[in-house]
Amino acid sequence: MQFTQRTNTCGELSLSDVGKTVALNGWVADKRDLGGVIFINLRDRYGVTQITVNSENKGVYDSAKSLGLEYVISASGKVQRRTSSNPKMKTGEIEVLADKIEILNTSEVTPFVVEEEVKASEELRFKYRYLDLRRRKIASNLEMRSRVYGIVHRYFERHGFVEVETPILMKSTPEGARDYLVPSRIHKGEFYALPQSPQTYKQILMVAGLDRYVQICKCFRDEDLRADRQPEFTQIDLEMSFVTEADVFRMCEGVIYDIWKEAKGVGLKLPLPVMSYDEAMETYGTDKPDLRIKGWLKIVNITGSVKGSEFKVFTDAINSGGIAAGIKLSSVDVTRKIIDSLTEYVKQLGFGGLGYIKYNADDTASSPMLKFLSEEIQNKIKNDFNSQAGDTLFILSGEKAKVLSSLGSLRLKLAEMFNLFDESKDEFLWVNDFPLFSYNEEEKCFVANHHAFTMPKEQYLKNLESKNKDDILSIRADCYDMVCNGSEFGSGSIRIHRPDIQKKVFNVIGLTDEEAKQKFGFLLEAFTYGAPPHGGFAFGFDRIIATLCGTRDIRETIAFPKTTSAVSPMDGSPSPVDEKQLKELGLKIT
Ligand code: AMO
Repeated sequence: MQFTQRTNTCGELSLSDVGKTVALNGWVADKRDLGGVIFINLRDRYGVTQITVNSENKGVYDSAKSLGLEYVISASGKVQRRTSSNPKMKTGEIEVLADKIEILNTSEVTPFVVEEEVKASEELRFKYRYLDLRRRKIASNLEMRSRVYGIVHRYFERHGFVEVETPILMKSTPEGARDYLVPSRIHKGEFYALPQSPQTYKQILMVAGLDRYVQICKCFRDEDLRADRQPEFTQIDLEMSFVTEADVFRMCEGVIYDIWKEAKGVGLKLPLPVMSYDEAMETYGTDKPDLRIKGWLKIVNITGSVKGSEFKVFTDAINSGGIAAGIKLSSVDVTRKIIDSLTEYVKQLGFGGLGYIKYNADDTASSPMLKFLSEEIQNKIKNDFNSQAGDTLFILSGEKAKVLSSLGSLRLKLAEMFNLFDESKDEFLWVNDFPLFSYNEEEKCFVANHHAFTMPKEQYLKNLESKNKDDILSIRADCYDMVCNGSEFGSGSIRIHRPDIQKKVFNVIGLTDEEAKQKFGFLLEAFTYGAPPHGGFAFGFDRIIATLCGTRDIRETIAFPKTTSAVSPMDGSPSPVDEKQLKELGLKIT
């Protein structure tokens, strides 16, 4: 088809182009017919330009009149200065006075209006994603994604990494989520698993001597979905030989530095701070602390100070091995209503109530629990928090892990309620020394927290043989996360390369030699042929992009996302398949 091809995009004309004859191609985003003159907003990926059509030019005017929204057109004419400019538009000082309009394609009335402040439901937006993607906001997220692919590739190439594609059809991986399975037609009754990550392959590439591997890869996990979790997502996956944790940290923060510098124009301060898992849990009640919160609202453990008090809630908790701890909120007028709503909040977390102490301007304190606390204990608490007039303490007591994690949630809740997030910068840190195992109460067994190939820290190796539960749970690992603004950006570890240690770890998680062989035999066999010490990391690529784009919802950064019920509304997957296909695969739906 012949048509007038664009001389410019819809996002670039300015006053310096006035007088030029141009042709623009794009979609009709808006049409205002004022009788005698028609204004069209023409949109493409690069922006929007106003096309003005005068009734004096009858042929063009008639064409313009017939245009519907989302028609694809070519508009030609002279660039002129607008009588009243639109400062909200990049091209708002000019317009194109059309002397020719060609309709390149028509459009049905769209299921929702394509506009920046879209009113359509998420379901509808995902079903008609190609319309949704016409919105600058979503398109610019994809552009950001694309830009970051480039930065990542350049960075790792500069550092001597080899990009290797690993299989999509493979044997089940050790990440611990449910697998997506693919039935084999040739080997009926047998299945491939889609990779939850390329973990085993990248370790084998180290045995192969590749030394430095990287891949921007798709991973698949059948797990409960949230705003930051998709069933298929992207990782920047890497592995390095002959390295320590510090080497992995330097390499990984380097790529984040380049991304923030090139994509956001922000120079991060390196090295990133490091916090141990224990410190993160005890101070922020989470292994992914959000350090953007002004004043940081740290958790203070006051168990020692309130021991022996007459406050039954505290003594009961402490006598059964629990703790009392709290956080301090400063410079906020905490009203009765606020306390009631926070009390409701902690009740949902499983507490009977929320203790609080308010320090008044006249240096007195108010709290229903003061009558149970001696003056000495009251003073100790005040000192523990370094409390001043205007501060309010929120205190919980009970089982340690529950108190800490609930205070962690309360901290975020307070920050949200009182706008305490400093959005002016992104706050990164490393969290390391994670526990190697946790205990699954339901199944009464130990499970590997990261995965079964994570190296225990040297000083804990002897605990691997202990029969004591606490000894096992105390084992810390060379395992680390990178956290940004309270989001887990990535995870990694130094791997076990010695068969004797690997065997002990399998023992703890109850994998017999036979089971280990069946599950990971190929990896274990590879390790018998000279596995170098190695370690690595994987970033959640979608989360990085979401943060760069100022959202927490990774679906906004993925071209064709799934809903939280793992459905793709556009193509209607998952969907039933033909009986014939099932038969070929030897499958029957029950
Ligand atoms: P892990 O399982 O922690 O580690 O995954 C690494 C990072 O991937 C991101 N991520 C996800 N993003 C979106 N949707 C999901 N469903 C999802 N699941 C994980 C997170 C996470 O930090 N093989 C190991 C890495 C290693 O040890 O080298 C692994 O996959 O940002």
